[in-house]
Amino acid sequence: MPNKAILEIDGKKYEFPVLIGTENEVAIDISSLRGATKGVITLDPGFKNTGSCESKITFLDGEKGILRHRGYAIEELTKKASFLEVAYLVIFGELPTKAEFNKFEDDIKSHSMVNEEVKNIIDGFPKIAHPMGVLSSLTSALTAFNPGTVNVNSKEDMYQAIVRLLAKFPVLASWAHRINKGLPLNYSDNSLDYISNIMQMMFKIPTEEFKLNPIAVRALDELLILHEDHEQNCSTSTVRIAGSSAAGLFASISAGVSALWGPLHGGANQAVLEMLEEIQKDGGDVDKFINKAKDKNDPFRLMGFGHRVYKNFDPRARIIKKAADELFQDLNLNDPILDIAKHLEEVALKDEYFAERKLYPNVDFYSGIIYRALGVPVEMFTVMFAIGRLPGWIAQWKEMRENGEPIGRPRQLYTGETLRTFKSFEER
Ligand code: CMC
Repeated sequence: MPNKAILEIDGKKYEFPVLIGTENEVAIDISSLRGATKGVITLDPGFKNTGSCESKITFLDGEKGILRHRGYAIEELTKKASFLEVAYLVIFGELPTKAEFNKFEDDIKSHSMVNEEVKNIIDGFPKIAHPMGVLSSLTSALTAFNPGTVNVNSKEDMYQAIVRLLAKFPVLASWAHRINKGLPLNYSDNSLDYISNIMQMMFKIPTEEFKLNPIAVRALDELLILHEDHEQNCSTSTVRIAGSSAAGLFASISAGVSALWGPLHGGANQAVLEMLEEIQKDGGDVDKFINKAKDKNDPFRLMGFGHRVYKNFDPRARIIKKAADELFQDLNLNDPILDIAKHLEEVALKDEYFAERKLYPNVDFYSGIIYRALGVPVEMFTVMFAIGRLPGWIAQWKEMRENGEPIGRPRQLYTGETLRTFKSFEER
């Protein structure tokens, strides 16, 4: 393994240490570059080659299609653990003992009320507001009701902030859904587990008895586990950068929700389903849409395909596709949209354009089909992703704050005008 890298600029050599990760990933530590070279920086738009931090939370190998949290394979976690167990693992570093888990769950439940005054804020939103916008605003608004800053040096303070957020976030998410549908706001039922409670908060209506379907609960549990963390993606980097200014946990998470919303990131799950519906309405001609995606003069992209890091199959997509098949079988469902998705995948995988660029289905390709089968409306898909990603955002924020990382502040290569003299209105 290399232990140093040498950079030559204008005949002068500079030496930089090389760091090796526990999975043998190699990184050149260029933190002394600008000082040593008196002003030279690196330029890497989209951070395609830039590590922003050292992290112990998630390992992923995009070439081999590997995803692990704290050393545990995602395939094993989805089959053997619950969402909250994985959340504990991701946030605190180890699987909880039974006693630790029970305490964690109870502590979350004890914070599951949201201040009633939040409803005044909700009243101000138009009913057609997108639930992601509502969720981001309400998460930020929680700061007003929990004004104390978290003392990052106090384990107890950190723990309390974390369980509070894990408790209140799904309540806000369910409220974002219910105002959108004109339903009365619902409360947490602390007799239920975390995932069952999310379902009842979203779907229970006052006029009918609410019956949980264990198959549906398990499917949602598995789906949300798959979303828990994904190292330094766009929304997580946003959370870390916002938090690096010492902004509070709730404010930093709200920034993450906004970053997740975009169709190139978490918003892709909504975009995938809308695309599949469009293909269906159009008569189901998959080839037409594949050709549109390949046409450089057409802005259309095959949503749910491609990934910045996975240049092989996204392991989450593999699990989700199988989960969708099992769910449809168990619930005896049939959705022509699933058939269109499978056909689209098959055609794309055989196509040279997608093969050359290593574009495979990602986590968002089949997830929407499962949400749809569970009765989640399409505009709520990205909110579900946010509920799933919350433990990862919290874990990354906690790690960054506890490591005392410096404020995130990239440099730039200025390409604008050089100094010029101001001209008055008459002279312009
Ligand atoms: N359909 C058609 N062409 C594509 C697609 C696609 N979905 N994705 C990438 N390409 C092409 C792109 O046009 C480019 O072609 P060329 O080399 O000829 O210019 C090449 O593949 C490389 O793409 P890129 O945009 O440079 O790759 P990136 O790493 O910057 O972007 C991505 C990754 C996920 C934003 C992109 O693949 C994409 O827009 N996919 C569709 C949206 C999507 O499904 N997003 C969810 C990502 S996974 C979950 C998450 O992050 O939340």
